[in-house]
Amino acid sequence: MKEKILWILRKAEDYVSGQELCEQLGVSRTAVWKVIGQLKEEGYEIEGVKNRGYRISSIPDVMTAAEIGSRLNTKDMGRCCISYGETDSTNTRAKQLAEEGKPHGTLVCAERQTGGKGRRGRIWSSPPGEAIYMSLLLRPSISPSHTSMLTLVMGLSAAKACNEVLYRKLGENAPKVQVKWPNDLVLEGRKLAGILTELNSEVDYVHYVVTGIGINVNTKGFPEEIAATANSLHIATRETFSRAELTACCMKYFEECYEIFVQTEDMSALKKEYESLLVNIGRQVQVLEPGHAYTGKALGINDKGELLVEREEDGQITAVYAGEVSVRGIYGYV
Ligand code: BTN
Repeated sequence: MKEKILWILRKAEDYVSGQELCEQLGVSRTAVWKVIGQLKEEGYEIEGVKNRGYRISSIPDVMTAAEIGSRLNTKDMGRCCISYGETDSTNTRAKQLAEEGKPHGTLVCAERQTGGKGRRGRIWSSPPGEAIYMSLLLRPSISPSHTSMLTLVMGLSAAKACNEVLYRKLGENAPKVQVKWPNDLVLEGRKLAGILTELNSEVDYVHYVVTGIGINVNTKGFPEEIAATANSLHIATRETFSRAELTACCMKYFEECYEIFVQTEDMSALKKEYESLLVNIGRQVQVLEPGHAYTGKALGINDKGELLVEREEDGQITAVYAGEVSVRGIYGYV
């Protein structure tokens, strides 16, 4: 009901009468009044004027299920949304919720993570109130060997969502978010977001996939170790963004891209758009395979989502599989 009230009040340009809210929601005036009280406690400014009704005048930047849900237009993605003020890791929570039977498309978010996980056992610093920490539970009917491409699908969707909210604020002058194959989003050559995809499967059957993303949205500064290579939407633009709006926008694009992906179980239909946002393209990269490193030029991706690299030493084109390597720019992070 909270979600619906938020949706109605935000859409309305003017006051909405208590009567109208009751009728649309099929509940009593007292029930509406109670929810309005809760919203005020959560930081919403809602004016209540006798004979006119309620009007929302300020929306806090919160990552609650109600705020996100009130902005969703999707069929599956985020329809079941579970939010925490604080949790260890949204990926860990999503895996637990998967075991408990939560549906495909369940979205898990948190204001703060106490055990945020990065790739390869690294820590993902997750202070409260400024970034997005979210994980999406998927139950795809695809081969386990194709699931790593879901990281690319999330990267593409999140980059499109960031570019949409940047465009809404800044129009044509907005800086462009790009994808750094396979796991990162990049803004002005620095890391804006990271993706961690985890799989629970048998050899030939996927139980579920959790794809989690951390996006630096309103972050004003970073710990010294990452300050030179990290960026946020706020640092790049000096604007403040609604994290719930960006989250809902990610869900919209993820649903679109996911539907395209599962038809072929590969990147063939998404490749062109992915490459248009790929920061590595045409750049020198260093491929760090276990026990072997080489440099080359990134040319794009193939249908399997592998990065195509023209090796400097012999000009051969190698398809680099995400799970095996780390790809770095030869002069720095990109
Ligand atoms: C990386 O770049 O190393 C991947 C970082 C992934 C971080 C996100 S934040 C939400 C989700 N929960 C986690 O514990 N990790 C991912």
